[in-house]
Amino acid sequence: MISFPRLKLASELAVALQGKAGFSDAHNGLFLAAPRRTGKTTFLRGDLCPALEAAGIVVVYVDLWADAARDPGQLIAEAIGKALQPHLGVVARTAKSAGLEKLNLAGWLHVDTSKIGQVDGLTLVDALKALNETAGNPVALIIDEAQHALTSPAGEIAMSALKSARDQMNRPDEIQLMLVMSGSDRDKLLRLVHSNGAPFYGSQIQRMPLLDQQFIDFLADLIEAQRVDLCPVDRHTLNRAFEGFGHRPQFFMEALGQALSPLSSFDGRFELAMLDAALQRQRDDESQMESDYLGLKPLEQAVLWRMLKLGPRFRPYDAEALAFYRQQIGTKVTPPMAQNALEALRARMPALVWKSARGEYAVEDATMHRWFEERMAAAKWPPASRQTPLNLNGEF
Ligand SMILES: Nc1ncnc2c1ncn2[C@@H]1O[C@H](COP(=O)(O)OP(=O)(O)OP(=O)(O)O)[C@@H](O)[C@H]1O
Ligand SMILES: [Mg+2]
Repeated sequence: MISFPRLKLASELAVALQGKAGFSDAHNGLFLAAPRRTGKTTFLRGDLCPALEAAGIVVVYVDLWADAARDPGQLIAEAIGKALQPHLGVVARTAKSAGLEKLNLAGWLHVDTSKIGQVDGLTLVDALKALNETAGNPVALIIDEAQHALTSPAGEIAMSALKSARDQMNRPDEIQLMLVMSGSDRDKLLRLVHSNGAPFYGSQIQRMPLLDQQFIDFLADLIEAQRVDLCPVDRHTLNRAFEGFGHRPQFFMEALGQALSPLSSFDGRFELAMLDAALQRQRDDESQMESDYLGLKPLEQAVLWRMLKLGPRFRPYDAEALAFYRQQIGTKVTPPMAQNALEALRARMPALVWKSARGEYAVEDATMHRWFEERMAAAKWPPASRQTPLNLNGEF
């Protein structure tokens, strides 16, 4: 598999996280947002983790989507516990042989790793301190899909515990705990930082840079090295195609494989075939959203419509919302009816709606907003069923 290394970005972020980048605030927590399938996880695991490890930092990575059925707080705690385990073994042995039980070791020796999984804010803080002290190095905790933590009270407690650990362990001149949180939806991540009561109030959400022309140059170099017949590659057109694919490498690479295949039915330059494939991909994405929407019951459609229209200002049960639903479906809608519709939207696989532990709702896939805006601008909203209605009179 071809993977483009993003070493420069990784080393810049590693420096910023350690508080060595002048005016950056990353040492207080780095919040990175980028759309779905644009390479967040690959970057965090493949580039950022090694860059931090090379700087002598102990890295704990946890993906809160890895197991959606498990509680996010528990997943975080377990990841820290796992990283702690090997160190505790060594420390326990050394402590015993050196009679260290008598020393006062800042409260980490009593950490019971089997209990770290049972979310208790204090235990998380202790576990992080213990990891830091036993490893003798700063710790970086990378939480992928961090917005998922806000979907359960235990996840919220875990986030507050992490904030507290950060405040206890870091001093302006000495950073011992680095936090990196990523997510595909800026609005959801914002809930971690934007209000006074949010755990990381005061931090900013950064847009994680998308793969760009450098990625295309990397691929073009490979193609030119392997296929002399295609030299020179039209990098500009290839980059336009990549933009058309929404900067999503997986879909782009798939199409590239086909365009370069001897079996490709496209006559002419492969770069143009890629532009074509990008357009096709956009159409497929849109028709998928359209058929998802059309497959919903009328009230579910109305609720989703309202959510797309209002974004973060969406309130499911206020008088205006209920009036809006009524206007769309033609009958009175009560709050329990709207709630059932919301639950149905959440329960679908894949889910269309996201809900925080505080009862805030958002669309699961933020690209739906763009689809909605574009259709609105083109006066093509709401999507209409393409099926011709059944003719019950038997007349054709
Ligand atoms: N630097 C890269 N070079 C080549 N391919 C990449 C690169 N980064 C990501 N990809 C490919 O793009 C796809 C999506 O990557 P990844 O899972 O990292 O994205 P993501 O933003 O975390 O997605 P999701 O929103 O689903 O979590 C993967 O198939 C991966 O192999
Ligand atoms: Mg990911």
